[in-house]
Order: sequence, then C-alpha cells, then structure tokens
Amino acid sequence: MKISPSILAADFSCLYQEISRVEGEADSLHFDIMDGHFVPNLTFGPGLVASLRKKVNLPFNVHLMVDNPQEWISPFVDAGADLITVHLETCRHLDRLVTVIKEKGTKVGVALNPATSLQELEYVVSEVDIVLAMTVNPGFGSQSFLFSVIPKIRDLREIIKKRRLSLEIEVDGGINEDTAARAIEAGASILVAGTAVFGASDPGKAILRLKNS
Ligand code: DX5
Ligand code: ZN
Repeated sequence: MKISPSILAADFSCLYQEISRVEGEADSLHFDIMDGHFVPNLTFGPGLVASLRKKVNLPFNVHLMVDNPQEWISPFVDAGADLITVHLETCRHLDRLVTVIKEKGTKVGVALNPATSLQELEYVVSEVDIVLAMTVNPGFGSQSFLFSVIPKIRDLREIIKKRRLSLEIEVDGGINEDTAARAIEAGASILVAGTAVFGASDPGKAILRLKNS
C-alpha cells in the first residue's frame, strides 16, 4: 500500500521544508486544486506545482476539484504532473478527457464524490490508472472519514477482479491509523493523508505508522 501526503495540511509558510520531511517515506505527493466553484474553497495553481517540481523528486499527483477541468490539463502537465485526477461530476465528456490526458503521457485518475455511484464508470474504467473514492465531501482537510463509502470501495475491488483490470483504488479524506486499516481491508491500495501526516510532529514517522496500521 502507498501513502500520498496531501500538502493541503502542510504549513504553507515553509512548504518546501515540510515536503522534505516526507520525501523519504512518501510514495507520491498529492496536490489539491480547488477553484471556489466546484468546491467551496480556493487553493493554488500550476505555478506552485512547477516551482516545487524543480526541487522535489516524488511523483506529483494533481487532484483537480475544479469546474471545466479540460481547461487545466495542459497547464498542469506543463507544470510537471505525473498523474491528473478529474472528478466524474465535473466532466461532460469524460471519455474524451481521459484520452486527452493519456495522450499527453500523463497518468489519469477519476475521482468520485461520496454520493456518486460507480455506474457511470462502467465503459471507461478500463482506460484509467486510478479510481479515487472520496471518503469526505471535497473542499477541506481535517474532515471525518465517511464509512458509507466502504461498500463502494469493496464493489470496485470486485469489478477489478472480475474484469481483470490493473487500476489502483485510491481513497482521500479522513485517513488516520484506524480508517487506513478499514480502507485497505475494503480494497484500497493508495491512501491520501493530509492531517495525519503534516499534522504530526514527525511527518515521516506518521507515514510509517499509517503503513503499519
Ligand atoms: C479534500 C482533499 C483531501 C484533503 C485530505 O477535499 O481532497 O486531499 O487534503 O485531508 P485530510 O487527510 O486531512 O482529510
Ligand atoms: Zn485530494
């Protein structure tokens, strides 16, 4: 299982130092891009990703919580994203967008809000690298894990088995040592963690604790 720390929970006044503390243990770095429309919060854009790209060696996973995600693919690819995850709820032409991202040589993920069903993924799931099951309603860090999403993670694991797909299941929101175990047991293989990592006194050790839980 892999841990992807979300920099949303880091101290922005010393962001690079914060990231250096997890570079040894993290498997990738998670960037939460929020536009104040799809979600009621604003974060940062491709400029920040590009400036960190010059200093950090981890794979960069960009989680787009924005309306009109098609307008933001090229800027984030150019900024150095290794994986771009778009929300199903924001895509009118999901198949087209998945193709556009893959053609740029970038991995592609599709995220689902807690209330969104797996059904609409049926004919596109074989084309994606990651399905991200949100375990909080997107927009903020430090929210509580929604256990109602566990059956969706199990169902997706079943679909992967039945159709022999190679995609990974990622979960995002409210991950701590207790909920990490529940998500993994249900079938997730990548955990995004903000508060549990950057809120800890030693973020590197916090990642190892999550992995051992
Ligand atoms: C929520 C974001 C998450 C958030 C997770 O909209 O997508 O990535 O940073 O934060 P924690 O781990 O604190 O719930
Ligand atoms: Zn996220």
